[in-house]
Amino acid sequence: MVEDRTKELKETQQELVSKAIEAGMAHVASMVLHNIGNAITPINTYMEKVQTNELGKILHYLEKCYDDLQSRDDDLDYYIKEDVRGKQVFSYMADLIRSLADKNEEQLEIFKKIESAIFYISEILSLQQSYSLTEREIREVVYLNSLLEDAVEMQIGTLETSMIIVKKQFEDNLPKFMIDKSKLMQVIVNLIKNSYEAIEAQKNNTKEKVVLIESFVENDSVGFKITDNGIGIEPEKIDKVFEFGKSRKGSTGFGLQYCKMFVESNGGTITLKSNGIGSGATVSVYFDMSRLRHDDSG
Ligand SMILES: Nc1ncnc2c1ncn2[C@@H]1O[C@H](COP(=O)(O)OP(=O)(O)OP(=O)(O)O)[C@@H](O)[C@H]1O
Ligand SMILES: [Mg+2]
Repeated sequence: MVEDRTKELKETQQELVSKAIEAGMAHVASMVLHNIGNAITPINTYMEKVQTNELGKILHYLEKCYDDLQSRDDDLDYYIKEDVRGKQVFSYMADLIRSLADKNEEQLEIFKKIESAIFYISEILSLQQSYSLTEREIREVVYLNSLLEDAVEMQIGTLETSMIIVKKQFEDNLPKFMIDKSKLMQVIVNLIKNSYEAIEAQKNNTKEKVVLIESFVENDSVGFKITDNGIGIEPEKIDKVFEFGKSRKGSTGFGLQYCKMFVESNGGTITLKSNGIGSGATVSVYFDMSRLRHDDSG
């Protein structure tokens, strides 16, 4: 009986682990789509702006001016200098040329914006590719600061739309270490998403919305902290949030459990701290350097 029960428990645990991986994948995939959507919206607006026929109109008037001047080419000098109509046509031409130049500059600006939005979309896609999850654990050399940067980059569309300011305080002398990069990425993405959701959970929030991301080395640990000024959580509820199915918003509530599973399986610790509702929260992740493989290549 005990054996059966243990086997059953093991199977459930296994199932939970694979669900975690699936959830993480779906999560990043939907976030990537969301961010791409956010990047496409301004492109549409820019396209509408460049598609107006203002250039065509300016050109049309310039042609009219040209025709007018040509019809007077026998006494052009008198026409543009002395004739009332001729003087007007001449100065009107100058105006048209100026607005042509302005329009040209404006369009170049818009094209530049479209170009950078497209570049951003391809960045999101290639990031997604390099972090696409594999079932196998692949340890590779990770530089935590770049990973934190990438995680923010992946969600920047969502964060910017909600006018959340991301502050970074990175330790410059962070050792590199070996870990499953894509899974650590999932963890960071999940935690940033939690901060974003905690901020958005505050109704009638008029204060500045801030997420602070820090990296650090402390004694034999390396890690990061994510602090938000969101809704926070009652201290007595904190232990529960690492359990499956504990979600404020009624979703799977899988994020933190996944994070804990990954961090602890790499010999690390993860904690959530908050002084209660309305006081924001900080989640800290520590990895014990002695339990991670280092990268000695420099
Ligand atoms: N930064 C935070 N501030 C306040 N509460 C938080 C924060 N992070 C997590 N929590 C609380 O912990 C709960 C569990 O988080 P978890 O990430 O496991 O699930 P979820 O975010 O609700 O759902 P999912 O991650 O599956 O989309 C949240 O519902 C929320 O109540
Ligand atoms: Mg979550």
